[in-house]
Amino acid sequence: MAEVFQPPSFRIQDGVAGDHERLAFVLDRLADMPGIQRLRSWAREALRPAPGDRILDVGAGTGDELQALATLVGPAGVATGVEPNPGLRAEATRRAEEFGSVARFVDGDAYALPLDDSTVDIARCERVFQHLDHPERAAAEIARVLRPGGRAVVIDTDWATTIVHPGDPAVLEEVKRFALSRFPNPFAGRRLPGQLAAAGLEVVDHGSQALIQDVSALDGLFGALATAAVEAGVITMPQREQLYADLKGGAARGDFHFSVTMFAVLAAKPVR
Ligand SMILES: C[S@@+](CC[C@H](N)C(=O)[O-])C[C@H]1O[C@@H](n2cnc3c(N)ncnc32)[C@H](O)[C@@H]1O
Repeated sequence: MAEVFQPPSFRIQDGVAGDHERLAFVLDRLADMPGIQRLRSWAREALRPAPGDRILDVGAGTGDELQALATLVGPAGVATGVEPNPGLRAEATRRAEEFGSVARFVDGDAYALPLDDSTVDIARCERVFQHLDHPERAAAEIARVLRPGGRAVVIDTDWATTIVHPGDPAVLEEVKRFALSRFPNPFAGRRLPGQLAAAGLEVVDHGSQALIQDVSALDGLFGALATAAVEAGVITMPQREQLYADLKGGAARGDFHFSVTMFAVLAAKPVR
């Protein structure tokens, strides 16, 4: 069997600190995808950062998006990225210094943000909740640190929206069911409004984008999951081989679709 890509883990519980170069590589590839660029652009417009604002990015990764927002708040503003992975935090700091950004990156956890109550004007958190066992606690933390009238955008993938075509629908459904069982929070995207509302925030607007993958994704995350599904006895090896033949054949004649939908929620802290 061909060697398959092993998906990297962003869960800090999984001890990924040594793997940050690979994680940064994956984040950079994702940041180039049109769906992510469009959703980030929507989030920037929704958040409307102004000079002097205090911005927070929870789980900032390589920090590129916080840097983009930092240019809008200017030298009078504060742009703080909370990033628990030391390797990613160092990479984000290196990039910010290289570009002369005011963005700074600190250690911390979405469950216990290292910030005082009501000290943030604008918060963002992208593709972090899907890695958390208790995303509702992260939502409560974002609500705690936002000032009354402050705004937050939380973006996440909803893995249950994955569409793969062509292929036997029954086999695809088995692979999808198996894949969902491997994610701590596979329905992250659809749960954002409820979690932010439960944290006391007012949901103001929604954005979404499908993340359209090309056929190379078959050798990446999908390939790893399909192989794991065989090893777990969920599908057989001949079913996996047939699925691949159908998908590669579809791609060769331009009849291929692989996507997952990401959702973004704009929420505001009520002024009491
Ligand atoms: C898929 S990456 C997204 C990074 C960045 N937000 C972006 O959009 O490029 C997930 C990020 O969440 C961070 N993360 C994982 N668990 C976390 C936690 N408990 N608190 C804060 N961040 C966490 C990871 O270190 C990683 O930077």
